[in-house]
Amino acid sequence: MNCSNADRKLEHIEISLKEDVEGPLTTWLECVHLIHNAVPELNISEVDTSVTFLGKKLSAPLIISGMTGGAPSTEKINAELAKVVEALGLGLGVGSQRSAIECEHLKHTFNVVRSYAPKSLVIANIGIYEFIKYDLGMIEKVVNMVEADALAVHLNVVQELTQPEGSHDFRGFLNKLKEVSRVLPVPIIIKEVGFGLSKDVASVIGGAGVNYFDVAGAGGTNWAKIELLRARRKGDRIKEYMALELLRWGIPTAASIVEVRTALPSAGIIASGGIRGALDVVKSIRLGADVAGMALPILKAYYRGELMEYLRGLINSIKAILLLTGSRNVNELKTKPVVIYDPLRTWIIQRNLKVIM
Ligand SMILES: Cc1cc2nc3c(=O)[nH]c(=O)nc-3n(C[C@H](O)[C@H](O)[C@H](O)COP(=O)(O)O)c2cc1C
Repeated sequence: MNCSNADRKLEHIEISLKEDVEGPLTTWLECVHLIHNAVPELNISEVDTSVTFLGKKLSAPLIISGMTGGAPSTEKINAELAKVVEALGLGLGVGSQRSAIECEHLKHTFNVVRSYAPKSLVIANIGIYEFIKYDLGMIEKVVNMVEADALAVHLNVVQELTQPEGSHDFRGFLNKLKEVSRVLPVPIIIKEVGFGLSKDVASVIGGAGVNYFDVAGAGGTNWAKIELLRARRKGDRIKEYMALELLRWGIPTAASIVEVRTALPSAGIIASGGIRGALDVVKSIRLGADVAGMALPILKAYYRGELMEYLRGLINSIKAILLLTGSRNVNELKTKPVVIYDPLRTWIIQRNLKVIM
């Protein structure tokens, strides 16, 4: 049994907290401008930020993206994240559950989430490589471990290629996806981890029977950077150079949202990758996402000891920005004017994409 994944998880957390692991690409959400409405004719108390996603009502369109679990000390983090999402009515993804499938004694670091968030939207998580390798019974075990409402399968191809111990064979994924999506009792979400999803990928995945996507585009946490730093620590110069070459790879989050929305008008879309505040959340939804996901800022707020305050501030600000666009709720926001400038504008034109205007 290989339990070394636990050490890797801790290293990822430590590097993400101590080093600069974001950029150099940006999300291109800075190319999106919402129009200020100086006479909104609304009372803030009538602005409703709630949405329904994956069958659960969320008080705001916000999900904590999958990060932790799988190392003994992460039980505490997952318990705290679960308490906070349950109190605030948000959604929560757990980190990759591979370690707990391979090392039973780590299961509690994940299933602690359901004890503290019995009613919330909870999303299970495994990587593309395990998804291909595991049989249906093991995949169901991943879902049942957290009594999940959905299973996120993360596509971390760049990370696998650049990490010293990474996997290199990604064949067989689409067939497996077709097979599993037909019988798994919960929906599958196809999730990137910071390099984005294109309309072409979304179409192929839609054809395999999956209708939920977490774009996790470029502009936020950059796994090529994290693996570069790990390779440097390990003295693996070749992987370090490889990771360096891929630092600027990926589809910026704003472009990825429009890509997936154009390909699949009725898909459920999570906007993530570099979402760094309420304005990013609202802009993402205006571009076509249903909810937004955040990872690194949540981890940092947890370690600062002010996760609750940070999230309350964020939710209140989403509400304020809805009011400032003259929107009573998230659906009204989708009809409000927006200006899009370059490079996102050119990307939309050249890729033949659509944003509802
Ligand atoms: C410390 C850390 C651990 C992560 N672990 C996972 C994981 O196990 N599974 C996964 O799908 N994504 C994982 N991610 C990726 C995030 O879910 C997210 O897609 C990515 O960090 C981009 O969001 P951000 O820019 O808000 O951080 C992790 C991110 C961080 C920072």
